[in-house]
Amino acid sequence: MASLSSSNESNNKNEAPSEDDILNDEAEERHHLECNIAMLQYSIFMKTEIERRENHLKQISNVQKQYLPYEKMINDIKKLKQAVHANQVLLNNIADDSIYDKHREYLNANFVRCTSKPHQMSKVKTIIEQIVRDWSKEGEVERNECYLPIINELKKRLPIRNNTNNDNNSNVEEDCRVLIPGFGLARILVDIAALGYAVEGNEFDYFMIFASTYFLNGGLAPYSIDIFPYIHSPCNILSKDAHLLKPVKIPDLSTIDVLKENPNLKMRMCSGEFLHVYRNKEYIEHFDCITTCFFVDTAPNIIEYIQVSICILYAIHTLLRIVLYNTVLYIYIYI
Ligand SMILES: C[S@@+](CC[C@H](N)C(=O)[O-])C[C@H]1O[C@@H](n2cnc3c(N)ncnc32)[C@H](O)[C@@H]1O
Repeated sequence: MASLSSSNESNNKNEAPSEDDILNDEAEERHHLECNIAMLQYSIFMKTEIERRENHLKQISNVQKQYLPYEKMINDIKKLKQAVHANQVLLNNIADDSIYDKHREYLNANFVRCTSKPHQMSKVKTIIEQIVRDWSKEGEVERNECYLPIINELKKRLPIRNNTNNDNNSNVEEDCRVLIPGFGLARILVDIAALGYAVEGNEFDYFMIFASTYFLNGGLAPYSIDIFPYIHSPCNILSKDAHLLKPVKIPDLSTIDVLKENPNLKMRMCSGEFLHVYRNKEYIEHFDCITTCFFVDTAPNIIEYIQVSICILYAIHTLLRIVLYNTVLYIYIYI
């Protein structure tokens, strides 16, 4: 059975690491750990918010209570706590899969003394919210709006080549290699790989990488997990039960089923910064196509993204004429 492999940009280094490399690796490991801690501390942050609301409720006098659906308000707080717990269970499972073994002991001893930064907590909440679009039935309409135009364009520009061997051991030379930088929560990787493309995803955000790895490799049964993605936005809602406290079942697609249906599925994740990873010589003329969704506008310098993209595409598939590495290359660019 095909496996969903992943690699880290540091895997590419063959030489002995320099002092700078070692310092960078240490900083990277610290960041990796901090991201995991942030996921594990989600319910602690949410508890503060819930306690604030509870305290407000407690201060309501008996006389005032009769003008309010007080019991329901107390009950909603209870449901909110259960919802936070359900989200935390998911985050614990994601963190449990991603945490380095060498960090477990440190965490056991120091977890209570760690405090995640607000911007990290905001990323944790974003992950829970974005899971809806990528991995739920409820997200299908939005997903189709984002991904279908890309997938249809890919099928038109780069139809899957027929395998002349006509057997299951497809020749690597014949793969249609597609790079998807900034893959987010990875659903687009699965959807494109299931069409028969050899897909490589690139992402540098650990939160995204951890969650994606969990969805791709976690062996999750369809609709086996309930999350509560709307609890972080209590404003402008008509009904708490119909919106704020609405559970969403995930995943709508199990990668186990995808692998069963596509035993030759070719999909890998490469973690690291796009320019840093793909400037590597081994990637020159490596891909037939690059597809991205909400990624190009993340470029601090768009020209650099385009230059690297041109280098890593096979000359034959490129359209924009430029001279690079003494080769004439062409590229299709849709922004
Ligand atoms: C706006 S999000 C879009 C994510 C996903 N494609 C989607 O549609 O949900 C941009 C993604 O690109 C990633 N990203 C941004 N700059 C990157 C870089 N230089 N290298 C690798 N990933 C990057 C971010 O971490 C983020 O996940």
